[in-house]
Formats: sequence, C-alpha cells, structure tokens
Amino acid sequence: MTASIADILLDWYDANARDLPWRARPGAAPTDPYRVWLSEIMLQQTTVAAVKPYFAAFTKRWPDVAALAAAPEEDVMAAWAGLGYYSRARNLVKAARAVAERGGFPDTEEGLRALPGLGAYTAAAVAAIAFGQRAVVVDANVERVVSRLFAIEHPLPASRPTIRQLADTITPDARAGDFAQAMMDLGATICTARDPRCLLCPLADTCAGRAAGDPARFPVKLPKKPRPERTGTAFWIECDGAVWLTTRAGTGMLGGMRALPDDGWSAKADGSGEPPLAGEWQDRGAVTHGFTHFSLVLRVAALETDAQPAGDGEWWPVDRLADAGLPTLFRKAAQRATAEAGADDTRN
Ligand code: ADE
Repeated sequence: MTASIADILLDWYDANARDLPWRARPGAAPTDPYRVWLSEIMLQQTTVAAVKPYFAAFTKRWPDVAALAAAPEEDVMAAWAGLGYYSRARNLVKAARAVAERGGFPDTEEGLRALPGLGAYTAAAVAAIAFGQRAVVVDANVERVVSRLFAIEHPLPASRPTIRQLADTITPDARAGDFAQAMMDLGATICTARDPRCLLCPLADTCAGRAAGDPARFPVKLPKKPRPERTGTAFWIECDGAVWLTTRAGTGMLGGMRALPDDGWSAKADGSGEPPLAGEWQDRGAVTHGFTHFSLVLRVAALETDAQPAGDGEWWPVDRLADAGLPTLFRKAAQRATAEAGADDTRN
C-alpha cells in the first residue's frame, strides 16, 4: 500500500516541526486551549516572528483565560499596540469573557465559531490543535500547498471552495492538529510563495504543480486592483513636555486605541485637514501606512500651546510615550513630529 499524503507529511512533521511557544511537540497531547486560541488570533494576518514577543508578554501578564477576561479592555488594547488589525483585540476580550462565563472553551468547531473573532479558519484550527478534532484547516499557507499539490488552474479567490474540498480529501482522522500545523510549516518553510524548495519537499513526488514544471505559478490569482490612497492629518499638540492624546471611538478604524487627534480621515474619505485648535501650526512632514483596503498619507502638524483642546483626551508625558500603547501609524506620526527639523519624511 502506498503511504497517504497525510502519512508522509506527518512523518516529515515529526522530524521537522518548528518549535513554537504555543505548540505541543508532534504526537504529544494538545496544549492549553487558551494558548492555542490566543496564538491563532495573533497569527491572523501576522507573521510568527512578529507574534512571538506579544504571545510571551500576554501569557506572562494574563496566564489564563480568566485573567484575560478580568482585564480592562484598554489594557489589552494597549498591550496589543503594534500588532495591527485592532478589532482582533476587542474581540479577544469579548471572547475571553464569554469563555470565562461558560466555564471553558467549547471543544467543537461549531461551538468555537460562535465566539467573537473566530471565523471558519480559526475555529477549525483551534478545534484541531487544542482538541484533536478532525477539522479542515485552510489558511494562506495551506491554500498555496493545496493549489500546488493539485495544480489548480482556477484562480483565487473563486477557487476557495475547490481548495477546501481537496484539503478535506487529504485531512486524516487522527492527529488533525499535527496535520494542520504540518501543512502550515511546509507552506512557511518549503512550499514558500517564491522559490519553493521542492528538492527538500516530502510531497514532491505527488505534487502535480511540480510535475507541470512551474509550481510557483500556483496559486493562480486574478490581478489585484491597486489600493486607493487617502490623505489625512494628525495633530501633535504639545504643552510643557506633554502631548494631547485621545482615545479613538468605538469600532471604526483603530477603534478603542489611544491616538493623536486627527482630521477625520477614514477608509472611504480623505480628512478635512482642519486643525482642532487655532494657532501657528508647523508642518512636520508626512508618514505613510498601508491598511488592508487603502494606503494613507498622514501629514503631521505640530503646535506648542497653553490652550486646552476641546473634547475628551489626556496630556501624556512625551518622554513616556512608549507606554501609551499607540498603534504603529501614530507611533510613526509621533516620531515624525519629534524628529530633528529637516530629517526626511518617514515613508514605509
Ligand atoms: N499560523 C497560524 N497558525 C499557526 C500555527 N499553529 N503554527 C504555525 N503557523 C501558524
């Protein structure tokens, strides 16, 4: 009998699994669902390297789901600062509270799916990795591996149902969590987006994409529309070594995060450019930042003043700004505001 794709891949995983802080060793009993869930939320659209220090800080400060459930939302938002996609942090707190209330994590895909912030991928990943349930786990790495294994010519995103169905055909009943993570590791280390390392791949002999001669051609994608560019202005208002910070409203862009005041730019519109106070504003250049659906050029205007800005906010000592939990966009803007005059704009 020839070995199945799952058998070959699990053998490879036993020898080559990446050692990651939220993982059980291959073949071992699953680890704490809290750690699995937290890591999966952090890893959504974020690299393993970026997640590691945040995972360490979160699990040190909030070692279990009850501790996280009891945390004030603003502390969690500030600890999340820099990871991006901040609705994840708001949902993290909501889900922790729901789990604490019900006395533990649900152990089925369906039950997990009902928690805030758990979509199809995350619910399947947690069910498989934390509870050993058979679940079809498809993230971007798995999408790439499956597209190549089966040489799927149909372009993404329309090919997603086909990819899922084919992933289902190779998912084993046992060791579902190890299988899911083996697919992810293969995608991250060997079946990489560019220059796949087919000579090292345990599935090379069964890969239709390789047999077709150019595996990197898969997954086939429709050409992307260019991202629109928006413009806005952030306002650096300084008084006696302190800067005026606000907390962004509700569930909009960067909602719930501490921020510099700005002119109301949004995903759909440019900002008005209107400052919140009259005065001798100085232009301190601009920073750029890429969001999922648009890129933002944020001008930075600065004012030294004794006046109290209108509305809610707080004076924050400039020399302790690193503790404010500003998201990356406003960290860049703050750097721009405090950079030596004449330094270049921060463009990244
Ligand atoms: N990306 C998302 N989840 C992951 C996991 N459990 N291991 C490695 N990479 C991942």
